Amino acid sequence: MFITMEGIEGSGKTTQIAYISGYLREHGYECMVTREPGGTKIGEKIRKILLDRDHDMLDAMAELLLYTADRAQHVSEKIRPALDSGKIVLCDRFYDSTIAYQGAARGIEAATIIALGRLVLKGIAPDITFLLDLPPEAGLLRAWQEINAGGRDTSQSRFEREKMLFHKKVREGYLSLAEAEPQRIRIVDGSLPPEIVKETILEELRKFLYIKG
Ligand code: TYD
Repeated sequence: MFITMEGIEGSGKTTQIAYISGYLREHGYECMVTREPGGTKIGEKIRKILLDRDHDMLDAMAELLLYTADRAQHVSEKIRPALDSGKIVLCDRFYDSTIAYQGAARGIEAATIIALGRLVLKGIAPDITFLLDLPPEAGLLRAWQEINAGGRDTSQSRFEREKMLFHKKVREGYLSLAEAEPQRIRIVDGSLPPEIVKETILEELRKFLYIKG
Protein backbone atom coordinates (compact mmCIF):
# COMPACT_ATOMS: atom_id res chain seq x y z
CA MET A 1 0.00 0.00 0.00
CA PHE A 2 1.24 3.43 -0.93
CA ILE A 3 0.39 6.41 1.30
CA THR A 4 1.50 9.96 0.54
CA MET A 5 1.46 13.17 2.54
CA GLU A 6 1.10 16.50 0.76
CA GLY A 7 0.78 20.16 1.66
CA ILE A 8 2.38 23.57 1.39
CA GLU A 9 5.47 24.71 3.30
CA GLY A 10 5.02 24.37 7.06
CA SER A 11 1.88 22.24 6.83
CA GLY A 12 3.27 19.74 9.34
CA LYS A 13 3.72 16.74 7.01
CA THR A 14 6.91 15.50 8.63
CA THR A 15 5.42 15.46 12.14
CA GLN A 16 2.35 13.59 10.92
CA ILE A 17 4.44 11.05 9.01
CA ALA A 18 6.29 10.23 12.22
CA TYR A 19 2.93 9.68 13.98
CA ILE A 20 1.51 7.52 11.21
CA SER A 21 4.59 5.34 10.84
CA GLY A 22 4.66 4.84 14.61
CA TYR A 23 1.01 3.82 14.60
CA LEU A 24 1.44 1.42 11.67
CA ARG A 25 4.50 -0.27 13.20
CA GLU A 26 2.75 -0.63 16.57
CA HIS A 27 -0.02 -2.44 14.73
CA GLY A 28 2.34 -4.87 13.07
CA TYR A 29 2.60 -3.34 9.62
CA GLU A 30 5.96 -3.20 7.89
CA CYS A 31 6.36 0.39 6.85
CA MET A 32 8.98 2.24 4.83
CA VAL A 33 9.15 5.99 5.34
CA THR A 34 10.66 8.03 2.54
CA ARG A 35 10.50 11.47 0.96
CA GLU A 36 10.74 13.52 -2.21
CA PRO A 37 12.88 15.12 -3.27
CA GLY A 38 15.41 12.67 -1.83
CA GLY A 39 14.78 9.20 -0.54
CA THR A 40 17.79 7.69 -2.33
CA LYS A 41 21.51 8.53 -2.21
CA ILE A 42 21.31 10.07 -5.68
CA GLY A 43 18.01 11.76 -4.87
CA GLU A 44 19.47 13.45 -1.79
CA LYS A 45 22.07 15.04 -4.07
CA ILE A 46 19.37 16.22 -6.46
CA ARG A 47 17.48 17.57 -3.44
CA LYS A 48 20.42 19.77 -2.48
CA ILE A 49 20.43 21.31 -5.97
CA LEU A 50 16.66 21.87 -5.86
CA LEU A 51 16.46 23.48 -2.43
CA ASP A 52 19.61 25.60 -2.59
CA ARG A 53 18.57 29.20 -1.90
CA ASP A 54 21.34 30.42 -4.24
CA HIS A 55 19.70 28.66 -7.18
CA ASP A 56 17.05 31.31 -7.77
CA MET A 57 18.02 31.29 -11.47
CA LEU A 58 16.94 27.65 -11.84
CA ASP A 59 14.88 27.38 -15.00
CA ALA A 60 11.31 26.07 -14.45
CA MET A 61 11.77 23.25 -16.96
CA ALA A 62 15.14 22.28 -15.48
CA GLU A 63 13.40 22.22 -12.09
CA LEU A 64 10.65 19.95 -13.39
CA LEU A 65 13.19 17.61 -14.96
CA LEU A 66 15.22 17.40 -11.76
CA TYR A 67 12.12 16.48 -9.74
CA THR A 68 11.29 13.94 -12.42
CA ALA A 69 14.81 12.47 -12.37
CA ASP A 70 14.65 12.25 -8.59
CA ARG A 71 11.33 10.43 -8.86
CA ALA A 72 12.57 8.00 -11.51
CA GLN A 73 15.40 6.92 -9.20
CA HIS A 74 13.14 6.80 -6.17
CA VAL A 75 10.43 4.72 -7.81
CA SER A 76 12.81 2.17 -9.30
CA GLU A 77 15.27 1.93 -6.42
CA LYS A 78 12.99 2.15 -3.40
CA ILE A 79 9.25 2.51 -3.90
CA ARG A 80 8.58 -0.25 -6.41
CA PRO A 81 10.71 -2.88 -4.54
CA ALA A 82 9.12 -2.00 -1.19
CA LEU A 83 5.57 -2.23 -2.59
CA ASP A 84 6.42 -5.52 -4.33
CA SER A 85 7.62 -6.97 -1.04
CA GLY A 86 4.30 -6.07 0.60
CA LYS A 87 5.46 -3.13 2.71
CA ILE A 88 3.43 -0.02 3.33
CA VAL A 89 5.27 2.91 1.76
CA LEU A 90 4.74 6.24 3.47
CA CYS A 91 6.08 9.10 1.38
CA ASP A 92 6.53 12.78 2.28
CA ARG A 93 5.45 14.38 -1.05
CA PHE A 94 5.10 12.67 -4.41
CA TYR A 95 3.70 13.38 -7.90
CA ASP A 96 0.90 15.67 -6.58
CA SER A 97 3.64 18.08 -5.46
CA THR A 98 4.81 18.37 -9.06
CA ILE A 99 1.30 19.15 -10.25
CA ALA A 100 0.82 21.79 -7.54
CA TYR A 101 4.30 23.40 -7.60
CA GLN A 102 5.56 23.03 -11.17
CA GLY A 103 2.08 22.96 -12.71
CA ALA A 104 -0.28 25.27 -10.80
CA ALA A 105 2.38 27.61 -9.36
CA ARG A 106 5.13 27.73 -12.01
CA GLY A 107 2.65 27.43 -14.85
CA ILE A 108 4.06 24.46 -16.77
CA GLU A 109 1.28 22.94 -18.80
CA ALA A 110 -0.42 19.80 -17.50
CA ALA A 111 0.26 17.78 -20.66
CA THR A 112 4.04 18.11 -20.17
CA ILE A 113 3.84 17.08 -16.51
CA ILE A 114 1.57 14.15 -17.29
CA ALA A 115 3.82 12.93 -20.14
CA LEU A 116 6.90 13.04 -17.90
CA GLY A 117 4.96 11.43 -15.07
CA ARG A 118 4.05 8.52 -17.29
CA LEU A 119 7.72 7.92 -18.05
CA VAL A 120 8.72 7.52 -14.43
CA LEU A 121 5.66 6.39 -12.48
CA LYS A 122 5.12 3.20 -14.47
CA GLY A 123 1.64 2.73 -13.06
CA ILE A 124 2.52 3.55 -9.47
CA ALA A 125 -0.01 5.81 -7.78
CA PRO A 126 -0.80 6.46 -4.12
CA ASP A 127 -3.72 4.49 -2.66
CA ILE A 128 -4.46 7.29 -0.25
CA THR A 129 -3.10 10.83 0.11
CA PHE A 130 -3.48 13.18 3.05
CA LEU A 131 -3.49 16.82 2.07
CA LEU A 132 -2.67 19.04 5.06
CA ASP A 133 -4.40 22.23 4.08
CA LEU A 134 -3.87 25.63 5.69
CA PRO A 135 -3.47 29.26 4.60
CA PRO A 136 0.02 29.93 3.21
CA GLU A 137 0.53 32.82 5.64
CA ALA A 138 0.26 30.38 8.55
CA GLY A 139 2.35 27.69 6.84
CA LEU A 140 5.16 30.04 5.93
CA LEU A 141 5.25 31.46 9.45
CA ARG A 142 5.72 27.96 10.83
CA ALA A 143 8.30 27.06 8.20
CA TRP A 144 10.41 30.13 8.99
CA GLN A 145 10.10 29.56 12.74
CA GLU A 146 11.53 26.08 12.15
CA ILE A 147 14.36 27.40 9.99
CA ASN A 148 15.20 30.16 12.48
CA ALA A 149 15.17 27.69 15.36
CA GLY A 150 17.82 25.67 13.52
CA GLY A 151 15.46 22.80 12.66
CA ARG A 152 16.40 23.20 9.04
CA ASP A 153 19.38 24.48 7.11
CA THR A 154 18.82 28.11 6.03
CA SER A 155 20.71 27.47 2.81
CA GLN A 156 18.02 24.94 1.81
CA SER A 157 15.21 27.48 1.67
CA ARG A 158 14.67 28.28 -2.04
CA PHE A 159 10.93 27.58 -1.84
CA GLU A 160 10.32 29.36 1.46
CA ARG A 161 11.72 32.46 -0.28
CA GLU A 162 9.06 32.37 -3.00
CA LYS A 163 6.41 35.11 -2.99
CA MET A 164 3.11 34.61 -1.17
CA LEU A 165 1.31 34.47 -4.52
CA PHE A 166 3.38 31.42 -5.45
CA HIS A 167 2.32 29.62 -2.26
CA LYS A 168 -1.31 30.60 -2.82
CA LYS A 169 -1.18 29.03 -6.28
CA VAL A 170 0.35 25.86 -4.81
CA ARG A 171 -2.50 25.63 -2.32
CA GLU A 172 -5.10 26.21 -5.04
CA GLY A 173 -3.39 23.55 -7.16
CA TYR A 174 -3.66 21.03 -4.34
CA LEU A 175 -7.29 21.88 -3.66
CA SER A 176 -8.26 21.39 -7.32
CA LEU A 177 -6.48 18.04 -7.32
CA ALA A 178 -8.42 17.03 -4.21
CA GLU A 179 -11.65 18.11 -5.85
CA ALA A 180 -10.87 15.99 -8.90
CA GLU A 181 -9.91 12.92 -6.85
CA PRO A 182 -11.93 13.00 -3.63
CA GLN A 183 -11.67 9.24 -3.15
CA ARG A 184 -7.90 9.27 -2.95
CA ILE A 185 -7.10 12.70 -1.56
CA ARG A 186 -8.36 13.42 1.96
CA ILE A 187 -8.17 17.06 2.97
CA VAL A 188 -7.19 17.55 6.59
CA ASP A 189 -7.20 20.94 8.33
CA GLY A 190 -3.49 21.50 8.91
CA SER A 191 -4.05 24.63 10.99
CA LEU A 192 -5.36 22.57 13.92
CA PRO A 193 -3.02 21.42 16.71
CA PRO A 194 -0.81 18.46 15.63
CA GLU A 195 -2.51 16.05 18.07
CA ILE A 196 -5.92 16.74 16.53
CA VAL A 197 -4.57 16.48 13.00
CA LYS A 198 -3.04 13.15 14.00
CA GLU A 199 -6.35 11.79 15.34
CA THR A 200 -8.19 12.85 12.16
CA ILE A 201 -5.62 11.16 9.94
CA LEU A 202 -5.51 7.98 12.01
CA GLU A 203 -9.28 7.70 11.98
CA GLU A 204 -9.33 7.95 8.16
CA LEU A 205 -6.45 5.53 7.93
CA ARG A 206 -8.09 2.93 10.17
CA LYS A 207 -11.22 3.02 7.99
CA PHE A 208 -9.09 2.72 4.88
CA LEU A 209 -7.05 -0.22 6.20
CA TYR A 210 -10.26 -1.97 7.28
CA ILE A 211 -11.80 -1.61 3.81
CA LYS A 212 -8.55 -2.83 2.23
CA GLY A 213 -8.62 -5.83 4.60
P1 TYD B 1 10.04 19.40 1.56
O1 TYD B 1 11.37 19.16 2.11
O2 TYD B 1 9.01 18.40 1.74
O3 TYD B 1 9.58 20.80 2.10
P2 TYD B 1 8.84 21.06 3.46
O4 TYD B 1 8.76 19.77 4.19
O5 TYD B 1 9.71 22.06 4.14
O6 TYD B 1 7.51 21.60 3.07
O7 TYD B 1 10.09 19.65 -0.03
C1 TYD B 1 11.00 20.45 -0.62
C2 TYD B 1 10.40 21.41 -1.59
O8 TYD B 1 10.26 20.82 -2.88
C3 TYD B 1 9.04 21.94 -1.24
O9 TYD B 1 9.14 23.33 -1.18
C4 TYD B 1 8.16 21.55 -2.40
C5 TYD B 1 9.10 21.26 -3.51
N1 TYD B 1 8.65 20.23 -4.46
C6 TYD B 1 8.30 20.61 -5.76
O10 TYD B 1 8.31 21.80 -6.11
N2 TYD B 1 7.94 19.64 -6.66
C7 TYD B 1 7.95 18.31 -6.34
O11 TYD B 1 7.62 17.45 -7.20
C8 TYD B 1 8.32 17.92 -5.00
C9 TYD B 1 8.33 16.48 -4.61
C10 TYD B 1 8.66 18.93 -4.09
